[in-house]
Amino acid sequence: MKIKNTDLLKECCYINGQWVSENSGAKMPVYNPANQEIISHVPKMGGDETRMAIEAADAALPEWKAKTAQERSEIMLRWYELMKENQEDLAILMTLEQGKPLAEARGEIAYGANFIEWFAHEAKRIYGDMIPAKSTSQRIMVIKQPIGVVAAITPWNFPSAMITRKCGPALAVGCTIVIKPSPESPLSALALCQLADQAGFPPGVINCITGDAKSIGAEMTSNSIVRKLSFTGSTAVGKLLLEQCASTVKKVSLELGGNAPFIVFPDADLDLAVKGAMLCKFRNTGQTCISANRFYIHTDIHDAFVEKFKTEISQLKVGDGFEADVGQGPLITQAAFDKVSAHVADATKNGAIIELGGAEHEKGGTFFQPTLLTGLIDSMLISKEETFGPVAGICRFSSDDEVIKLANDTNSGLASYIYTKDLSRAIRISEALEYGMVGVNEAAISSELAPFGGVKESGLGREGSHYGVDDFLELKYVLLGGI
Ligand code: SIN
Repeated sequence: MKIKNTDLLKECCYINGQWVSENSGAKMPVYNPANQEIISHVPKMGGDETRMAIEAADAALPEWKAKTAQERSEIMLRWYELMKENQEDLAILMTLEQGKPLAEARGEIAYGANFIEWFAHEAKRIYGDMIPAKSTSQRIMVIKQPIGVVAAITPWNFPSAMITRKCGPALAVGCTIVIKPSPESPLSALALCQLADQAGFPPGVINCITGDAKSIGAEMTSNSIVRKLSFTGSTAVGKLLLEQCASTVKKVSLELGGNAPFIVFPDADLDLAVKGAMLCKFRNTGQTCISANRFYIHTDIHDAFVEKFKTEISQLKVGDGFEADVGQGPLITQAAFDKVSAHVADATKNGAIIELGGAEHEKGGTFFQPTLLTGLIDSMLISKEETFGPVAGICRFSSDDEVIKLANDTNSGLASYIYTKDLSRAIRISEALEYGMVGVNEAAISSELAPFGGVKESGLGREGSHYGVDDFLELKYVLLGGI
């Protein structure tokens, strides 16, 4: 697969509007997870270059935040248009480095671009407040101002959309940003920077550093110029970053791991539930933070649901994301493959039954068979931890109270899903679930229009919607006297 716009394939980092290599020439390879071949190399940068990028973002801040919302919005909308014009090439790059089916990659480019468009308009609606004061000679004015330089650390599972979901609100309100993409998927990030450059962002407003996660992260979290860190990734790394940000008291947004329950009540539309389960479990080979991780199916419909789900799963074509009709790609790394295998082994050792799959796919490498297990119990690893792979584990339940207890029995609280035709049950259960997001008869919950985020150890803050700008703003209270 070849891209048409070869300018999008970058092997340098983007700092202060320049494409730069690491001084010593250190590079790191980028692999295609479908065949382990090296696609490209990117610079292996560290703390010094990160500092340079942060200083460039700081230097660019006064001019960028002084622009009107309309001026910032115009540049952002050009970026959005360029993403749409280059959608096919961006999708090809994504499938190459990340492995997801090309159709999903195209979808992610559109989804990601929408954050830029949506926040470009939202920039014009950053209102303040006038609060009645105690005295007639006073007024209390509240204004919202950009927080300053933002550091964004983004994951490999959504190499484009997790960048735009952070850049959209940050840039719209007048912040500047330094991005550290995942070492597994830096090409998508650098391609977005190329388009940002073309769109006309002033030098330093957007910067992107690839390289050593530890030293880049250490600089981002300890540098006092950075006023806000936004991270999407694992809970373990999120906790570490939160700790590291304490020394400079940064505002932190974290979008961390989930352990999503997918609950099907006896009155549910089973075909709809199975359709949702397929999307929710096998999109991106199960490598999303909002993937269903535990399926709770009411005992009255358990067997019928399992039968329908099994039929659908068995039709899933596994392969290289560029092959026609592929619905499931490879897992990102050998470590990811090992975790999925360990979860299946632990479940079967503890009594789960393999209804389908359960092992390495015949394509080899990190391809795993789409897998269906029944007989899930609480104590299994698969119930306790996010599997991040194409394994659906099913547990029976008999009452609403029982399933609420099971679903909430976790430290995670990102997404949850319920299927029922009973409106009062839908409302009651949605309110009882300790999760940041609930899909009711819907599995496609991600959108630039809605606040994405979790409770408990799944994170802090919300991304998307008008709430999404709050994390990039500071409130300032001005007391006007002598009136
Ligand atoms: C994630 O997995 O972190 C994001 C999923 C999404 O945006 O749909």
